[in-house]
Amino acid sequence: MKKEVPLLKELLKYNDEENLLLSMPGNKGGIGFARDEIGKKFVDRMGFLDITEVDPLDNLHYPEGIIKEAQELLAKTYKAKKAYFLVNGTSSGNLAAMFSAFDEGDEVLVERNCHKSIYNGLIMRKLKVKYIEPIIDDELGVFLPPDKESIYKALGQSSEPKGIILTYPNYFGITYDIEDTICNLKEIGLKVILDCAHGAHFGINKRLPKSLASLGDYVILSAHKTLPALTQGAYLLVNEDNSMIDFYIKSFTTTSPSYLIMASLDYARYYLDTYGKDDYEELINKSEKWKKKINKLGKVYILRESDMDKHQNGMDGYKIDPSRYIVILPKGYNGHKFLDYLRNNKIQAEMSFSRGVVLILSPFNTEEDFKIIYETVLNLDMKNVSGETDIKYFRDIPVKRFEPYEVFRLKSKWCEIERCEGLVAKEAIIPYPPGIPLVCPGEIISKDIIAMVRDYIINKKSIIGVKNNKIQILDIS
Ligand SMILES: Cc1ncc(COP(=O)(O)O)c(C=O)c1O
Repeated sequence: MKKEVPLLKELLKYNDEENLLLSMPGNKGGIGFARDEIGKKFVDRMGFLDITEVDPLDNLHYPEGIIKEAQELLAKTYKAKKAYFLVNGTSSGNLAAMFSAFDEGDEVLVERNCHKSIYNGLIMRKLKVKYIEPIIDDELGVFLPPDKESIYKALGQSSEPKGIILTYPNYFGITYDIEDTICNLKEIGLKVILDCAHGAHFGINKRLPKSLASLGDYVILSAHKTLPALTQGAYLLVNEDNSMIDFYIKSFTTTSPSYLIMASLDYARYYLDTYGKDDYEELINKSEKWKKKINKLGKVYILRESDMDKHQNGMDGYKIDPSRYIVILPKGYNGHKFLDYLRNNKIQAEMSFSRGVVLILSPFNTEEDFKIIYETVLNLDMKNVSGETDIKYFRDIPVKRFEPYEVFRLKSKWCEIERCEGLVAKEAIIPYPPGIPLVCPGEIISKDIIAMVRDYIINKKSIIGVKNNKIQILDIS
């Protein structure tokens, strides 16, 4: 047997590279915990604090002591009725919320660009789905949240929806003015689940997008994405009275919750309360200043809120999270190559798309970090990132033959992607990142989808659901 530790070795090697982390997690390699003495103690003693439920450390599944207290503080911070720590990520919170809010056979409106965990929930909870059409900026290759028109269109096309699941903000950090719509949907009896994975910091400073934490019936926040918390740490906020949620959270949570993750969640909430407002003010000032400087170089363009105006229809109020850079390359250039260029220059971006990359900034970024971004763009030889990938995203939702849960147990076979036109997908096909399915289980594969899959393969980007140029289709002939 070989005495190898491949994963750990690679992890150490990556750490040795000392990349500037403009990606998740929000603790940015532990720097986020070094904000004060108690945070520093946490990092220094991390290895020793990985313990199990011993007296008097309370129990996440039956909180009566310090965990209960910490969760109550969390509810206060977000002005929610009830708050829970999640140690299995927002994914587990999305599942728990879907199981708690809906029963088998219920119909739900779901944003097409939702996260994989929501798609999993549709299958596991056996829900009927009516997708809300995505809004795409073809020019920039950027997805926007659905507008009111598409939400109400989906509502009009559904028969008896029990609820709606929305993502706020989307993967790019783009939000929209959705409060009135949510209130209206609640008034007509829909349950509202808000996947706010990328918005745990919202509302802490007025220059950030609004927090919807007290508006949704269930609101799920990936603390680990933007706050000083450990990976997998997330929050579930509940604003409806429903005793079922406790059961489902427990069902989707390990019985050995990590005290490291829980303590980091406690710290992240404390961080927001103590430093959030001022630290984000400083970050936004820095981010705006350097955005101008970088844009002046004329090589790449970091989106501004005013660039969203053309999509407003006078009503939807698209906003960009100022703690993110959506960096766009000129026409004819390639976002994936730009991500590789940044990585070769020790900058880790969050994700790439055909025309650009997304960088997640944080209050822990120094002036020096921004200078590094600036200089890396300054030194960019545009030749090295030329060649647009020309990946055209779909606008029309593929035709649905079966509900996702109906396909789940049907027989399937692998088929060359080029020969799949008109056949029904057994599995979702998801480029990662950003993790948005091109096709969902039960949908008919079109020519456009085949072309898109080919583009992802050619560009050597990870695409879940495709193996050796084959995908799984239903064997129903
Ligand atoms: C919009 C959205 N929802 C949910 C999730 C899942 O979050 P987690 O990784 O905390 O399970 C992600 C992760 O990327 C996401 O982007």
